[in-house]
Amino acid sequence: MNVLSVASEVFPLIKTGGLADVAGALPIALDGQGVRMRTLLPGYPAVMQQLTRPHKIASLTSTFGDEMRILAAQQAGLDILILDAPAYFDRSGGPYLDVTGLDYPDNWKRFAALSYAACEIARGLLPDWRPDIVHAHDWQAAMTPVYMRYTGLERVPNIITVHNLAFQGQFGPEIFPGLGLPQEAFGVEGLEFYGHVSFLKGGLRTAWEVTTVSPTYAQEITTPDFGMGLDGLVNARAHQLMGIVNGIDTTVWDPATDPHIAARYGAASLRQRGENRKALMERFDLDDGAGPLFCVVSRLTWQKGIDLIAEAADWIVAEGGRLAVLGAGDAALEGALLSAAARHPGRIGVVIGYNEPLSHLMQAGADAILIPSRFEPCGLTQLYGLRYGCVPIVARTGGLADTVIDANEAALTARVATGFQFAPVTADGFRQALRRAFTAFAEPKVWARLQNQGMKCDVSWERSAERYSKFYSSLLARV
Ligand code: ADP
Ligand code: GLC
Repeated sequence: MNVLSVASEVFPLIKTGGLADVAGALPIALDGQGVRMRTLLPGYPAVMQQLTRPHKIASLTSTFGDEMRILAAQQAGLDILILDAPAYFDRSGGPYLDVTGLDYPDNWKRFAALSYAACEIARGLLPDWRPDIVHAHDWQAAMTPVYMRYTGLERVPNIITVHNLAFQGQFGPEIFPGLGLPQEAFGVEGLEFYGHVSFLKGGLRTAWEVTTVSPTYAQEITTPDFGMGLDGLVNARAHQLMGIVNGIDTTVWDPATDPHIAARYGAASLRQRGENRKALMERFDLDDGAGPLFCVVSRLTWQKGIDLIAEAADWIVAEGGRLAVLGAGDAALEGALLSAAARHPGRIGVVIGYNEPLSHLMQAGADAILIPSRFEPCGLTQLYGLRYGCVPIVARTGGLADTVIDANEAALTARVATGFQFAPVTADGFRQALRRAFTAFAEPKVWARLQNQGMKCDVSWERSAERYSKFYSSLLARV
């Protein structure tokens, strides 16, 4: 079966968050399931520079009149299709933001063009390959099913996966004519959302099926608290909404072979972790103590509950803990963390920035990872934590609720606990979970058991890839 995946970021070529990890790992996991997945990705400069022997296989003109080419390349085990469109993607800055951190004003054009190209590939643009199914990710690819619906390709099965309902791709109504769609597409059955054009809403409305990245998040987004204004629509499709939890690439994230850490280890050689802990302490200028070393690897945003971490920082230090933070994001949150570090030299260290190798050392060296997210569609850092013996302390929401087993009495007795959960997501709730973690850490046997139980969890893609593959088959059966 041939599947076209459409994504705005794909690890290891370009990454700003978990979407890239998923888009990069799922095709490889599906390979063993008889699914041939090709991935369409924009030709950002960072991507173009990494390509080895790309070759042009097709060209097309965007709905805005710009020339675009499709290049094919094999990269990191992935079968990549690049949308080479310099008018949209040849820019300094990131995939979505310019060098000053602002959204590119023509993001609507850039990602409409990506979706349009995907639709044309589904129509048969490529000389020797046509997808049986199209799988679009997030708002940046959400126009794909819209184009398919309104240009006569509604019979080709397509899926949209929501990785985060908070990002919707909303634009003023004045952009509509440029999209090259019939007027009816700007209606409630299509893109229209309170008088605006919403790419994600259009995708949710027109896709054959909608999935999201954990069962709990699938249920949460049917409610006003988590629906981000789209809960009505999500509810209308709730009978079709499926949550499939993400896996992780267990070859990229393997403490036994990880090239980015100081000492490699496995469940049977947990003591080796000490070397990584030492290296991490050094990297963050921390002095060792008897308490736990907590880490944070995250976008620094309200979603991730980073304000709760800043608020808990003094208390963590007072209790004898250490804290190492790696992340970038909101200036105010960066500032709050940096000032906590300035108040507690040797106890709290903060690195502002994006650093993939360092993120591995943090999972390998810290005792626990803090993830107090207000909402979390899936979350990957708790899965890396489980695999690395870095005990996750998480908010009970979304994929965090689905992947971490709270160390309550029953779970401890049954020896299945893998971390700590808390709800509601408040400073008090968080502190209670931290307190339980301090207590468990003071008993090395209890802590080691938590680590071991976490390391035994299957966080690979295997089961979820099988679910996607079965899901694809069920769509084909309907054609
Ligand atoms: P989200 O996609 O919402 O940001 P996820 O937990 O799904 O959250 O994925 C985040 C991914 O980005 C993980 O692979 C994590 O390790 C990585 N990451 C986040 N911030 C940083 C950072 N500052 N440096 C390196 N990796 C980071
Ligand atoms: C989004 C979500 C995150 C999820 C990731 C990959 O970025 O915020 O929870 O893990 O997508 O699906």
